[in-house]
Formats: sequence, structure tokens, C-alpha cells
Amino acid sequence: METPEIVTTIAELRARVASWRAQGQRVGLVPTMGALHEGHLFLTEESRKHAERTIVSIFVNPTQFAPHEDFDRYPRALEADAGKLGRGADLIFAPTVAQMYPRGHATRIEIAGPALGLETDFRPHFFAGVATVVGKLLIAAQPDIAVFGEKDYQQLLVVRRLVTDLALPVEIVGSPIVREPDGLAMSSRNAYLKPAERAVAGKMNVILRSATSEQQATQALLDAGFDSVDYVAIRDAATLGAVGDGPKRILAAAKIGATRLIDNMEH
Ligand code: PAF
Repeated sequence: METPEIVTTIAELRARVASWRAQGQRVGLVPTMGALHEGHLFLTEESRKHAERTIVSIFVNPTQFAPHEDFDRYPRALEADAGKLGRGADLIFAPTVAQMYPRGHATRIEIAGPALGLETDFRPHFFAGVATVVGKLLIAAQPDIAVFGEKDYQQLLVVRRLVTDLALPVEIVGSPIVREPDGLAMSSRNAYLKPAERAVAGKMNVILRSATSEQQATQALLDAGFDSVDYVAIRDAATLGAVGDGPKRILAAAKIGATRLIDNMEH
């Protein structure tokens, strides 16, 4: 089976991108942390609609994990990931931590606006880590477009803010959530779920779809078997601020055992 070439340095990445550009080809980037599933493959298909060449970056970014989180046990499967991509991508950029954060690295991108509240209330380190690494990936690859899933809806808005504020010359494409047959949003962290937990996890999307209020949905998640609920929030879909006249989004994060799941949808 044909698999994409894997490069590990920014210099090699830039050389490939330069040769494609010289041929007049558009370049798409799909940033991931690997452990690829169908949701990621859907993002690469989206990229291929917009660009002749698609790069998938695979980098488990240490700066978006707090010390007590799952950085060490986060699944890593580069060869299997390359096999899953097959001909669906042209290049994998799989840098080392030292490549992305060289000795003495001291720059961090912090964003307010859409990064305030929700995930930040529970993972205060998260969006500075994401914004820093996404900024670095976009500057390293200089793609025409970059695709991000709506599964991490707040992250998508944070990335849009980053690109607008730093005037990065890239179009951010949001891609709908890919779900399992029972509606569970696909996520690399679903691999942590034990069978009984997996059954509970599948109820989150059903509860959000029929939610009548934040309080009602929170109680329904606990009744369904979630151990704790970080938040259920109904917000303005464009800003994540208080609801106004525009479209609304319901977003939730809850834990089953050691696994934290998030989901969101139109409301
Ligand atoms: O969504 C993810 O997988 C990560 O947060 C991202 C965007 C690849 C940055 O590390």
C-alpha cells in the first residue's frame, strides 16, 4: 500500500511546499496529534477539495497538556497513521518536540476572546498551547488552507481569531463532526473507553440534541452514567458569548472514569 512520505524537519517541509508552489499547486494542511480515525480522514478529504496537495501534521503537542493530563499515554501510532492515510495525503510532517520547541524556546501565543471560559475554565493551559503550536505549524508550512474539525468547536474559533489577528495568509476551513453509528463524536480519546463506559459515552450526543436547558442536560448526563460534568453551555455560535439573535451552539464536556469527552452541535 502506498503511504505518504514522512518528513520530520521544518526545512524538509518547506522544500516540499516550495516545489509544489513552483508548479502552481495549492497546499492544504490538516494539523493532528495522530492516532488517526475516520474523522481525521474526513478532514483530509476536505483539504483535497480545496488544494492539490495535502499535508497532515502529526505532533502530540506537549504545551497543550497540563502535567496531570494524558500527554504520556496519548496514543502514538505513526506507521499505522501513514497506512490509514494511504494516498489520501501527499506528505506527513511528524516533527520531534525539539524541532518544534528548540532549546531555549520562549515564545507563546495567548488569545482571549473565544478562548475565554468553557474549556479554559477546566484546562487553563490549553489554548495558549494550541495557539502557539498552530501558529508555528502555519508559519512552517505556509499552506493556502488549513482544516480543523468542529468537534473542537472552541478551538476552531480560537484558530480563526489567531489567523485574523496575526493576518496569516491562510484560509481556515471548518469541517463537520464525524460520528459513530450511535452518534458518539469520533475522537482519539475514545480508545481509552472500557466497554461499559463506551455505552455511556454514546448517550452524550442524544442528550445534547434534546436538551431543553443547560441544567436539564447536565442532570441527564449524570443520570446517564457520566461521573462528572465540567460544563453544558448554550452560547452564540459565532462568538461563544451570551446568546443573541444569531445561531446558537450547545457545547459540553464530561468525564467517564479517567476519560474526558467533549461534544457540541447547533441548538
Ligand atoms: O485538535 C488537535 O488535534 C490539536 O489541538 C491540534 C489542532 C492538532 C494542535 O495540536
